[in-house]
Amino acid sequence: MKPILEAQNLVKHFPTGGGLFQKTGVVKAVDGVSIAVRPGETFAIVGESGCGKSTLARLLTRLLDATAGEVLFDGRQVTRATGKALSDLRRDVQFIFQDPFSSLNPRMSVGRLVGEPLEIHAPETSKSERQEEVAELLTQVGLRPEHADRYPHEFSGGQRQRIGIARALASEPRLIIGDEPVSALDVSVQAQVINLLGDLGRDLGLTLVLIAHDLAVIRHMSDRVAVMYLGRIVEQATADALFERPRHPYTRALLDAIPDPDDRGGASRARIEGEMPSPSAPPPGCAFHTRCPHATELCRTDVPAPEETPDGHMTACHHWRKIGATPRRTTTRSRSPAAQARLELYRKATEGAEIIPVAETPDREDPK
Ligand SMILES: Nc1ncnc2c1ncn2[C@@H]1O[C@H](COP(=O)(O)OP(=O)(O)O)[C@@H](O)[C@H]1O
Ligand code: SF4
Ligand SMILES: [Mg+2]
Repeated sequence: MKPILEAQNLVKHFPTGGGLFQKTGVVKAVDGVSIAVRPGETFAIVGESGCGKSTLARLLTRLLDATAGEVLFDGRQVTRATGKALSDLRRDVQFIFQDPFSSLNPRMSVGRLVGEPLEIHAPETSKSERQEEVAELLTQVGLRPEHADRYPHEFSGGQRQRIGIARALASEPRLIIGDEPVSALDVSVQAQVINLLGDLGRDLGLTLVLIAHDLAVIRHMSDRVAVMYLGRIVEQATADALFERPRHPYTRALLDAIPDPDDRGGASRARIEGEMPSPSAPPPGCAFHTRCPHATELCRTDVPAPEETPDGHMTACHHWRKIGATPRRTTTRSRSPAAQARLELYRKATEGAEIIPVAETPDREDPK
């Protein structure tokens, strides 16, 4: 199937320093990423904070210009689009931001926030048609038509993210990129917003690119997953294959670091050895070698090329054959009855298609 969104050797280096007494350098935020997203699928990009996910998302949507490489949307150039091609792209590809508290203009009513894209992309619609459409969009994301008269500060985090989703849907996009759209929300609300995105994706035939630093968030709703480390994709596979038989040592470490939903403090999660190196001085060879239990001399000098494994993973590791694909270890830690009950609730919420009505949303009101 022809990809709807494609990145080819995408690079973004940010120059740094250059002030008085400062050394100049570059931050290699994205350093040669190639991905191909198929129409209608949910494609997840996962990696630790600072690995370049937001930069990649901004390059894909042309909110940032690339240092090198190409992005194609539906076969059309994104990287050098101007004029009508760029405004078409602005309609077809929408962005959902990480922070629902700062991404909505606080001085605009919900009705205006959701109606604005309609004004821009369909200027011929009348005011009353627009109001009707706003009401429909609000209902679609689990809010109520009368919410149009209110302002963002009157809503909780989860509700604001719903407003952001309604605004994204208003221009009838073909693809939505969510940059950690739920990481600022409570766990219970995260599942609802993720479910909402999944349902909308299915119902409207949208392609979704979801970015997360936590694999647990995207497990149940992504078709394929790309794992990113220091500006590069280290493994790509279908979600099932990736979760059940991870190939790359970094993916395995990330999976072992998934917290239990009942473990809010994160005290029991396994940690990946060592710190992530700075993208302004990435290690030579395989960038993961400073933290990898399988690293050899070759890993310290040669960059591993992406290779396809017999079970359909793309992995960039010199030693994937030797390391094999043994199912990863799972924790057998026993849970308290209360923790078990919470986990069941979470599972139900993430698996069920039903969205809990907003009025009952156990959302926190002010996370600051
Ligand atoms: N405008 C910028 N100028 C300089 N460095 C940047 C800029 N934006 C991001 N970076 C750096 O690029 C790296 C990747 O950042 P980012 O894409 O935000 O990662 P992630 O979203 O995975 O946390 C980080 O080291 C970050 O500090
Ligand atoms: S190439 Fe070497 S250092 Fe990198 S992940 Fe594979 S074994 Fe580890
Ligand atoms: Mg980010």
